[in-house]
Amino acid sequence: MRKEFVEVQRGDFQFWGHNCFSVSNEFTTLLIDPWFSNSGAFCSSWFQYPKNHHLKNCVLDLICEKKNIFIFVSHEHQDHFDKEFLSCVPPNVKIIIPKYFDKDFRNQIIKDSNNVVELENNEKYSLDNEISILLFIKDIGINHDAAILVKTNNFVFFNQNDCKIFDQIYKVKETIDFYSVQFSGANWHPSNFNFSDKKKKKISSEKVNSKFANVLNALNILKPKYFIPAAGPAIFPFLEKELSLGQNNIFVHQPELKNFLEDNQFKNTLFLKPGESFNSNNSEPIKVPSFEDIKSYKIGLKNKWSDIPDKFDRFVLEEEINERFSKIDDINIKNCPVLIFNYGNVFNKDDRTTQNKIFIDIENKKLLETFDYASNYQEIVSKEKYFYLMCNERWQNVYLTLRAKVFRKPDIFNNDLNIFLFSDSSNIKDNFLSTYYIDQERIDIKNKKGECFRINRYCPHQKADLCNAEINEDNHLICPVHGWKFDLNNGGIDKRSNLTINSRNKKCLEN
Ligand code: FES
Repeated sequence: MRKEFVEVQRGDFQFWGHNCFSVSNEFTTLLIDPWFSNSGAFCSSWFQYPKNHHLKNCVLDLICEKKNIFIFVSHEHQDHFDKEFLSCVPPNVKIIIPKYFDKDFRNQIIKDSNNVVELENNEKYSLDNEISILLFIKDIGINHDAAILVKTNNFVFFNQNDCKIFDQIYKVKETIDFYSVQFSGANWHPSNFNFSDKKKKKISSEKVNSKFANVLNALNILKPKYFIPAAGPAIFPFLEKELSLGQNNIFVHQPELKNFLEDNQFKNTLFLKPGESFNSNNSEPIKVPSFEDIKSYKIGLKNKWSDIPDKFDRFVLEEEINERFSKIDDINIKNCPVLIFNYGNVFNKDDRTTQNKIFIDIENKKLLETFDYASNYQEIVSKEKYFYLMCNERWQNVYLTLRAKVFRKPDIFNNDLNIFLFSDSSNIKDNFLSTYYIDQERIDIKNKKGECFRINRYCPHQKADLCNAEINEDNHLICPVHGWKFDLNNGGIDKRSNLTINSRNKKCLEN
């Protein structure tokens, strides 16, 4: 792709680290997802890489000198929603958020600001007569996120951050100058799961390949003048060092992405460092940190994990679980493994005692006195601190601390268990209902050999639109969002989850 000139003055468009960008003109500044906290996110598990803490005051100065100040916060994850930073901004700042079905994020924001604008999917909003924005919202069950398209007189910036709208990317009709999207992973699977190193490596590499393929596909559709990789990877200075290296896990770094993009003939990547603007024209990726780098990164950080009490009150957590059960009492849940909270910090499948364990029967909405490990289960093993957090924090924030080990039998993803585990009491019922409701529209698709199949249009995982999904040489349809593979020869089943898109060979249908 040919480099083309984009007319941007220094300061009109700047990168501040992770997913934070600013777009400015003489009177207005829009700041996207500011995250500067020196205690990181998720109880000090995740940290900005490279460090950007020193730029916080610079950004505050930048916004304070403008008449119109807007901050867009894409979603509730703490690496995008930095309460500490937001508490420092002047009261005239307008906070823009997507309008999600679940009101928890909005309620957290309005607690500290009465200047909040909620925007709908595809709603255009003008910040002044030069800068306008448009949101693309993904809002399904436990997952909500939004991409933002920013249009100025000089350039168009499309910031997709972590938002998995890869199935909808063709709906973006603008000519894009700058495109930014997350390219590394951000999940506890497989790093926290009880897999052999070989299995972890295999799953991680599949996930990384799938993410890279999504990025490349988006680049081919959007044809931006420049791609700016952002929104990760974070590093994890207080966790096992290997996580921060991005090797054999999903938290891959820019050099790996650079090789991939160059192998695929995409050259116009800007590897911006925190504080840099477009004019830096930087083509060198941010390097993978060494052990030494991680050690010196730690200097001056605040570690919130160490402030958490070592003991928790089991009764309080059981109350919380029962509260969740009461909210989903009338939801019919089938084939869900028993969830076990093991606060003894040790897993031993031969240990059939009930000591330090809470057995949660999600299907029947009750706590069990005992469990013999003969049926299916998923066990979350960690220290009491972790379960103390579960009594006091949003559960999604707790699992994102990456401070638990997960054991499951069999090794199959279960949607219901995830909804139960990652919802809050306030939204658990809606999360089940919105995940259960899937439009039953059927579509016809063709593989490379020209064979026709009729399938469900929407992915049973998180409802990605499968209209434009790729079909590989093994006749698996690949979901464009998380890369699940639905076997078209075998009724459209995905073997990782046993969920299906009900494929029927058209020939069979016609006979
Ligand atoms: S939406 Fe996640 S695999 Fe399809």
